[in-house]
Amino acid sequence: MKRKIAIIGTGYVGLTTGTALAYLGHKVICVDKNNVKIKKLRRGIIPIYEPGLDKILKKHHKNIDFTTDLKDAVKKSEVIFICVGTPSKKDGRIEMKYFHLAVRDIAKEVQDYKVIVNKSTVPVGAGEWTQKEIKKYYKSKFSVVSNPEFLREGSAVKDFLEPDRIIIGVEDEKAKEIMLDIYSLIKAPKIITDVKSAELIKYAANAFLATKISFINEIANICERAKADVKKVAEGIGLDKRIGPKFLNAGIGYGGSCFPKDIDGLIQIANYKKYNFQLLNAVVKVNENQQKLFVQKIKKILKRVNGNTICIWGLAFKPNTDDVRKSPAIEIIKQLQKLNYKIQTYDPVAVENATKELPKKNIKFCKNPFEAVKNADVLALVTEWPEFSELDMRKVKKLMRHPYFLDGRNQFESKELKKLGFYYEGIGRR
Ligand code: UDX
Ligand code: UDX
Repeated sequence: MKRKIAIIGTGYVGLTTGTALAYLGHKVICVDKNNVKIKKLRRGIIPIYEPGLDKILKKHHKNIDFTTDLKDAVKKSEVIFICVGTPSKKDGRIEMKYFHLAVRDIAKEVQDYKVIVNKSTVPVGAGEWTQKEIKKYYKSKFSVVSNPEFLREGSAVKDFLEPDRIIIGVEDEKAKEIMLDIYSLIKAPKIITDVKSAELIKYAANAFLATKISFINEIANICERAKADVKKVAEGIGLDKRIGPKFLNAGIGYGGSCFPKDIDGLIQIANYKKYNFQLLNAVVKVNENQQKLFVQKIKKILKRVNGNTICIWGLAFKPNTDDVRKSPAIEIIKQLQKLNYKIQTYDPVAVENATKELPKKNIKFCKNPFEAVKNADVLALVTEWPEFSELDMRKVKKLMRHPYFLDGRNQFESKELKKLGFYYEGIGRR
């Protein structure tokens, strides 16, 4: 059955959710406070880089509308998804003011039965708070649901429409039926649970994935010292079905708008419940250390060749996105800038965002990967864009002053590069 749905907050998650729900045939109204964004969306201009989103939006535009009028959207909808951002504060705590504001704005407009679904990543107990807050304004029956998202940037549409599972934290039958109906066309296991468990599933999933990454990065560091190969070790353990092969790529660590924020968030949630989450604290330290170790390697090479020009390939926190939030690349460049080195960098789509994050000192943003390697003393690859694998590495070597290649994502194989005369070093490779 087609449902009338309002989406509050039209960022990465809100826009993907709204568009995908329109694709599934529901009538969707996307709300955002940002008038410029809404105006653009109404003209079909998508403010983010997310493959596939534009096509679906164009095809199903009749099912979706964009507005800044929250009151009207709530009035016209039966189900309201909250998708506002919940960023980290400086001390790692979760910034809840946008979420609180959204709930209060919604609460003031509820006049009949509504299902209020939260997709934002929020501490355990936020659903309970929502329930109490809405009750202050509306005395009859309504439902609060937790339905966390597991969307990866770059494959968000696919992740929404073909998920591994759908989590529905719900406390009553009516809302449960409506939620199952909304997702009825999606073939995936649907886990029905209570609101608090659903809220925790989101944090536990991201924390576990980050732990896997920090674990393999430590194994990589041992591999380097023991002259073993982390790719083979990862393959060897990954084939054990209990472990699984994914998220075992060693490198310079995780970044992005979710992992760092959610890991800090879970540590804070644990602290609040008077529990010291020792393992996660270590996961964060290992991740930071991975970037420091990479900078050390660059320093060592520059000292050896008496050079100071570094080419950095990649700025985004991972390929297929223009997002540089908490990107390991940005952290590494900042550390190198402090050491007064000269940086030449290239990224296929993230340059514009990176220029806003990085100090202007000693940095040149280049138009292509060749311009970036010209006269460089070392090439450091920090984001594994597929296009790097297609490049003529003979030409790359010719352009460099010294042929040192540090592959922070193990994208290349050493054999071929050594044949071309490169000094190649990956992370945890023989
Ligand atoms: C999402 C989730 O909300 C967050 O909890 C999760 O952990 C990561 O993904 P995201 O979609 O990436 O956040 O956030 P962002 O791109 O910042 O979008 C939030 C949108 O909400 C913005 O467009 C902002 O203008 C809008 N907003 C924010 C409102 O419309 N109202 C508000 O009160 C606050
Ligand atoms: C993540 C989660 O995967 C998603 O489920 C959640 O809802 C939002 O956060 P995203 O941040 O878009 O998605 O990217 P993801 O592909 O998970 O990568 C996160 C970071 O981990 C990247 O910096 C990536 O380079 C790094 N990574 C990932 C590794 O270093 N090694 C790996 O094996 C996998």
